[in-house]
Amino acid sequence: MFIAWFAISVVHFGVPLFYFFGMRRNAYRKNYGLNPVRDFATEPTVTVVVPTYNEEGVIRRKLEDIARSDYPASKLEVIVVDGGSTDKTAEEAWRYFKASGIRGTVLEQSQRLGKSTDLNKGLKHATGELVCFSDAECEWDRDALRNCVKYFVDPQIGSVSGVHFEKGSRKALSQEVEGSYRSIYRMLRIAESKVHSTPVAEGELQLFRTSQMPGFDTTIGGDDTCAALCMVEKGFRSISAADVAFYEPTPPRLSVRFRQKVRRGQHVIQAFWKHRKLLVKRDSSFTRLIFPMEFFLYILNPLLFPFWLATTAVLAALSFQFALFIGVVALAIVLTPLSRVAITHITNNLTMLTALVREARGDKQLVWNKIEENRKDERAPEVPPVQTV
Ligand code: GDD
Ligand code: MN
Repeated sequence: MFIAWFAISVVHFGVPLFYFFGMRRNAYRKNYGLNPVRDFATEPTVTVVVPTYNEEGVIRRKLEDIARSDYPASKLEVIVVDGGSTDKTAEEAWRYFKASGIRGTVLEQSQRLGKSTDLNKGLKHATGELVCFSDAECEWDRDALRNCVKYFVDPQIGSVSGVHFEKGSRKALSQEVEGSYRSIYRMLRIAESKVHSTPVAEGELQLFRTSQMPGFDTTIGGDDTCAALCMVEKGFRSISAADVAFYEPTPPRLSVRFRQKVRRGQHVIQAFWKHRKLLVKRDSSFTRLIFPMEFFLYILNPLLFPFWLATTAVLAALSFQFALFIGVVALAIVLTPLSRVAITHITNNLTMLTALVREARGDKQLVWNKIEENRKDERAPEVPPVQTV
């Protein structure tokens, strides 16, 4: 029994820690290894596609934010694809385009068909050389788009995504935990990108070459991650760029954050599962190391968590020394900064377990309710906070 517990502990905690510290040490500080064959003497044209469903409260701020970016307005086109909102999102967007100097249009669907369907519609109308997808309630750094574009000087790069920073100051526990989770995962996304590619992408800012973009699979969620994996499957690299920052608030209530993370987790599972063939390809460091490891972290390792808890409980009931040992370790964690990592670990595992159960039940969550708390008008800081990893 003790041997089983020990083996589970090593795999469940040891493998992620080993990967995390290995990537931080060996990859995080490297450069992206780009092979620039093209010099952007003039900026390429970019179409920004913004999908919306009932975003009247934030759509104006979103369009202003795009206009505020330091990318030349003459090279920008914006397409809002509204998925049958029942509020005034489309009117607000039209009003903004008419009053501002930004070239933009609103494609209005008569009913809600889901985000991916609408992204495809936006893609079909995109005239830019590059196409950028961006959610309505996030904001970018002024130089985010310009920085993002420059990675495409390398023809191997197929998808470039931004990195997430927390909006507003952290007050609630949910925001603390999200901050800790994000600082770990931001590091991992960047480190993996420097080695080859990262399998998880962010729909808050993701850029492609329009001509290479095959469109989004409308039968699963996780448009961003799925598209990044599609690009890798086609032989490109999909990266997260350290100098491309976007901001999104975290819902202050733990229960709301949990609901959001279960849905996002489910969508990652769907995208990973669709591209599971990459696991046996073994033709690059992505297919040999990064994807198998992320597949383990997102899908397999959470399944070990209940076994670890159960064996720990049984052993503690059987042996006083073991109970004492676990008690001391737990106390040491609670009293040190490791407690943040521990809470992050526990909530992640619970999230992914719930996501797996929901997925097994067949509820794919292809449409969902937005999080109202994230749509309060509060401007993001101009400069990203110092990275904590
Ligand atoms: N056109 C259209 N139609 N847009 C939609 C629909 C729809 O049916 N449903 C949601 N959207 C838009 C929202 O208006 C928003 O701009 C964007 O899609 C993302 O939705 P949020 O409600 O903000 O979800 P999130 O912040 O949790 O999104 C994250 O997870 C999603 C997958 O679960 C991001 O990473 C998204 O990019 C990702 O798609
Ligand atoms: Mn969002």
